[in-house]
Amino acid sequence: MAQASHTRHEQWSSGLVFILAATGSAVGLGNLWRFPYLVGENGGGAFVLIYLACIVLVGFPIMMAEVMIGRRGRQSPINTLRRVALEEGLSSGWQLVGWLGVAAGFLILSFYSVVGGWALYYALQALVGSFSGISSEGAGAMFRGLVSSPVPVVFWHTVFMLILFGIVVAGVRRGLQRAVTILMPLLFALLILLVLYGMTTGAFGQTLHFMFAPDFSAIDGRTVLTAMGQAFFTLSLGMGAIMVYGAYLPSSEHIPRATGWIVGMDTLTAIIAGLAIFPIVFSAGMAPGAGPGLVFETLPVVFGTIPFGFLLGILFFVLLSVAAITSGISLLEPPVAYLIESTRLGRRGATGLLVGGIWLLGIAAGLSLNVWAGVRIVPGLDANIFGTLEFLANDLMLPLGGLFIALFAAWFMRSASVSEELDLLHHGPVYRLWRVATRFIAPAAVILVFLNATGLFG
Ligand code: TRP
Repeated sequence: MAQASHTRHEQWSSGLVFILAATGSAVGLGNLWRFPYLVGENGGGAFVLIYLACIVLVGFPIMMAEVMIGRRGRQSPINTLRRVALEEGLSSGWQLVGWLGVAAGFLILSFYSVVGGWALYYALQALVGSFSGISSEGAGAMFRGLVSSPVPVVFWHTVFMLILFGIVVAGVRRGLQRAVTILMPLLFALLILLVLYGMTTGAFGQTLHFMFAPDFSAIDGRTVLTAMGQAFFTLSLGMGAIMVYGAYLPSSEHIPRATGWIVGMDTLTAIIAGLAIFPIVFSAGMAPGAGPGLVFETLPVVFGTIPFGFLLGILFFVLLSVAAITSGISLLEPPVAYLIESTRLGRRGATGLLVGGIWLLGIAAGLSLNVWAGVRIVPGLDANIFGTLEFLANDLMLPLGGLFIALFAAWFMRSASVSEELDLLHHGPVYRLWRVATRFIAPAAVILVFLNATGLFG
């Protein structure tokens, strides 16, 4: 097993804390905000099915690879990849994959924080009673009112970044433990409650049909790319977030089992979020393809109607904010760890520098929803700055990072090192399955999806 002596970082106090922290990273806006609206935009069941296939065949094996590499290297993704590559007799150029990840994390956090700010704004709206008796038109107007106004969007983005700054400066472990052990289970319970409410709306059957009866005529190459990008995004894969958490994992922990828990809980949360939201969409006659506003335009209507809705609404949006914060932390931690290792900046300086840069980019993302809506930065891509960041980072950089991580773990590392770290008997069935998935299935899937999205297959 890897020795922990060559690291400057603290370790998790147990494997359970690792599982909770990684689940805190995985479960976030990706599950509750992004997954439902992508399902709605991409025609439902077929998208869900492709997404699930990507989770199992691509996400799961790559997550094992990330944790494994992280624990062996015990540093930030950049230095971990360099160290492990050198140990395995490979080129130190593998650290470029770490750089790609740091760049992706930077881009993602800039728009993630904007949406995290919406969650905070909605927590406040719940608190001051704005949802009481609100109609679906009213909720739609509330959301549009928010995103079309530059000042609140930038203000709440700033608040979100400041909260992240405070927690990451305090050290990941202290900042995270309570949030993930108490608040995440509470969020999960609340979602179940909303699903139960959904069953009373009369639109639950329609929801099941929409989410689980695949209609393949609704999809194309771009849809498959979106589904795979979402699989990476929701599992926090492809940029080293899980790798850096693996770097803090005690050597005694069984990686495949831990990974199973994380992937399982993340996927369950996404599905349950869908089952909570779509009954409201259908029973209120809203359009499932309403886009990024979907969660924010639906749930307030329910909280404005049901008994105890006032309290439940506050609780939900506070917990949504917490889920976004625990995910945001994991986007910030890899570059922070790198700057601490490689510069003379301490934790505070490193975090401050990064938060400042991400905050500025986030302002551009936030303004692109209103005053800069017409600005295009990538020729040929008809998307505002927000959408462009989302596309570049989620749909391209994460899968690309994941592809290299899979290739590194399965083709370049010595299989003796890998099976030792994964604690799987060399010829056992689980190990062989993982190896086939990481060697062939995951890389082939990523490459095919990329080729497909370029329109090569028509
Ligand atoms: N997985 C988180 C979510 O679903 C977002 C996230 C956190 C993330 N860390 C990441 C995405 C690293 C990609 C890479 O909300």
